Formats: sequence, structure tokens, C-alpha cells
Amino acid sequence: MHIDSPQYGIIRQFQKNDIDRILEIASHSLTEYYTSSLIFDLYDSWPEGFSVYAIDGNIAAFMICARNTPNEARILMFAVDEHHRRQGIGEKLMQDFIEYCSRSGFISLKLEVKTDNDPAINFYKKFGFVITSRLRAYYSDASDAFTMWKII
Ligand SMILES: CC(C)(COP(=O)(O)OP(=O)(O)OC[C@H]1O[C@@H](n2cnc3c(N)ncnc32)[C@H](O)[C@@H]1OP(=O)(O)O)[C@@H](O)C(=O)NCCC(=O)NCCS
Repeated sequence: MHIDSPQYGIIRQFQKNDIDRILEIASHSLTEYYTSSLIFDLYDSWPEGFSVYAIDGNIAAFMICARNTPNEARILMFAVDEHHRRQGIGEKLMQDFIEYCSRSGFISLKLEVKTDNDPAINFYKKFGFVITSRLRAYYSDASDAFTMWKII
């Protein structure tokens, strides 16, 4: 339990007019460049894979996932605004998505993370993700990724 957890935040479905805020958080938090058209294409493919965490109507975090196979979901983008980290918001979004995947019959979850992103690697390990492989020069800056995987 986080003593400083925001009690007033809610997890809700993504809406298309959330896009500017999502791109803003992504630009401060993620190293890859994402376009609105890519995000809308992903949304149209699987709206259930999108969720946002809002505090008083302002988005503080978001998660974008895709169906990798019929039984496996893949986390593609996940970020908490830098001013709201370590307050349990990421944990709430992750728990909510894992519960959704479990109810929906998914067997596993997969993601890629930069090999030097210790906060995120620690975060994922807390949820039972394990490193399964290293992908050389996976990112646009030629840095490596770990593939992480979890059985639901
Ligand atoms: C990774 C991220 C989403 C975690 O979100 P968060 O809301 O800050 O995480 P939480 O507060 O829910 O933390 C849950 C647990 O994760 C681990 N954790 C989170 N941040 C951590 C950090 N900076 N260092 C070490 N462990 C960390 C801890 O075990 C923590 O539990 P604790 O606070 O009880 O110790 C957030 O740091 C982030 O947005 N990072 C930048 C974007 C990014 O790297 N995304 C992942 C790309 S693959």
C-alpha cells in the first residue's frame, strides 16, 4: 500500500481527444518517437488494450497494448508522467490490465524494455515478468532491449 497514493485518480478508457496529452507524456518519458496516426491505428485494432489514469480529469499515465497472438498481449507504450511516479499509479494500471487479460483468457504478456531502464525493469519484475532474451540494436538509437515475459 502506498501511503501517498492519489485516492482520487481513476482508470478509464482512452478517448481519441486524449491523444495530445498521451503524446506529451510519451515525449518526456519514452525515447522512441510515436505519431498520432500509429496510436489511432493501434486503438482501432484493439481498443481494450488502451487505458489511461486520470486525476481530476487530467491524464497522469497511460498504457497501450496490442494483441500479439490470440493468447498473448504485448505492452507497447507505458508511461507515468514524471511528476506522478512512485505513487502506485503504474501498479494500478498494470494490475487492472493483468486482471482484464486474465478474465479474457490470455495466457501471457510480453514487452520490450531498454536494458539500462532499471526503474522499469524493477517495476516489471515486481509483477513477475522475467527477462527472456536480449535484442541487439532494437531501438532507433541502436541501444539494446530485453524481452520480458510473464505467464498470467
Ligand atoms: C516504469 C514506470 C511506468 C513505473 O510507474 P510508477 O507509477 O512510477 O510505479 P509505481 O509507483 O506503481 O511502482 C511500483 C513498483 O515498481 C518498482 N519501481 C517503480 N519505479 C522504480 C524506480 N525508479 N526504481 C526502482 N524500482 C521502481 C518498485 O518496486 C515499486 O514499488 P514500491 O514503490 O513499493 O517500491 C515509470 O517509472 C515510468 O513511466 N517510467 C518512464 C517510462 C518508462 O520507462 N516506461 C516503460 C517503458 S518499457
